[in-house]
Amino acid sequence: MTTATMGIQNAFDVEARRRDFPILATKVAGRPLVYLDNAASSQKPNQVLDAITSYYREKHSNVHRGVHYLAQQATEAYEAARDTVAAHLGARDRHEVVFVRGTTEAINLVAQSYARPQLQSGDEILITQLEHHSNIVPWQMVCEQTGAKLVVAPLDEDGQLRLDAFAECLGARTRIVSLAHVSNALGTILPVAEVVRLAHAQGAVVMVDGAQAAPHMQLDVAALDCDFYAVSAHKAYGPTGIGALWGRRELLDAMPPYQGGGEMIRRVTFAATEFAEAPARFEAGTPNIAGAVGMAAAFDYLNAVGLEAIRQHEAELLAYATERIAQVPGIIPIGTAPDKASVVSFLVEGIHAHDVGTILDGQGVAVRVGHHCAQPLMDSLGIAATARASLGLYNTRQEIDALVEGLDRVRELFA
Ligand code: ALA
Repeated sequence: MTTATMGIQNAFDVEARRRDFPILATKVAGRPLVYLDNAASSQKPNQVLDAITSYYREKHSNVHRGVHYLAQQATEAYEAARDTVAAHLGARDRHEVVFVRGTTEAINLVAQSYARPQLQSGDEILITQLEHHSNIVPWQMVCEQTGAKLVVAPLDEDGQLRLDAFAECLGARTRIVSLAHVSNALGTILPVAEVVRLAHAQGAVVMVDGAQAAPHMQLDVAALDCDFYAVSAHKAYGPTGIGALWGRRELLDAMPPYQGGGEMIRRVTFAATEFAEAPARFEAGTPNIAGAVGMAAAFDYLNAVGLEAIRQHEAELLAYATERIAQVPGIIPIGTAPDKASVVSFLVEGIHAHDVGTILDGQGVAVRVGHHCAQPLMDSLGIAATARASLGLYNTRQEIDALVEGLDRVRELFA
């Protein structure tokens, strides 16, 4: 889709973009919704909603199975979505893109199909201290299954990965490094290309959890030179229940399937099954066809708006939010790395994060409160929970002002 067909002009116009998202007209407690929970899930533009509806209205059937007209339309739509996702991720080869439910499933797939068959007792998997549970638990499971060991690289006091300490954690037994591109809890952008260089020098493969990067920056697996990269559509203005795993073709082709069923085979007899090549061997069963179409529409939307324009808008907003929130008395910022995207996490001294979230909701302001599925990170910081405002392309300075007014109200109520 071109910018012209999407009706988007070149200059970034936040008010015009807000009109793309019908849900932003919602009123909460009689006030305009201020949606600052984009790291949990972003809202969906008309362009994505329309793509999903048109698919169901005009093209739906099952994929890869039929000779009839609609089966072909559905297959074309699904495979065209794969092309869009492959191009968006910077993949060289469309066979390197596996549709999955989301980042969580992608990491589980790599843990079970890549890691499990080859890990030996005493091998190591290296992650970082800021990982989401979805980049911890699948590796703990595979460690349990194989006798491998999970090693955790520490952060500095701003919440950035300490590359010197990371290099020391890498050893002759490190087989896999898995890390977030952007932290969901702190907003830190991790130095992935540098990590890949260090890991490859030790012969380890690198898996990147790109869930929080996809809405905010141009993705390019070739430039990162990583081995696996995972994204979820729903954090990048696409639908829930769909995401993609990108993997180097030679790795994917050598991996056994994760789940068995229809659509992932070349030939089945009662004695044995010969599997299809990647990506089909990892897509057992009827896939989320409409989800894939919606995901491709979301990536088309991001490209039409312009990822550089989005990055600039969000960087300005993040700087403004960081400064304004820090001026509220009693605020303790959590996560102050110089290189950050989208997230402002904080404590309000003496007030539980859940109370902060509930009072803000009464002002129409949606933030996430809690451990953000990063309990080990919270433990290492010696806290139970933070309040987190996370920005999207449609957020404005006025909305940050509404958040700050809400925080003033929180303090008044607890004074
Ligand atoms: N990982 C999502 C978040 O950070 C759910 O909120």
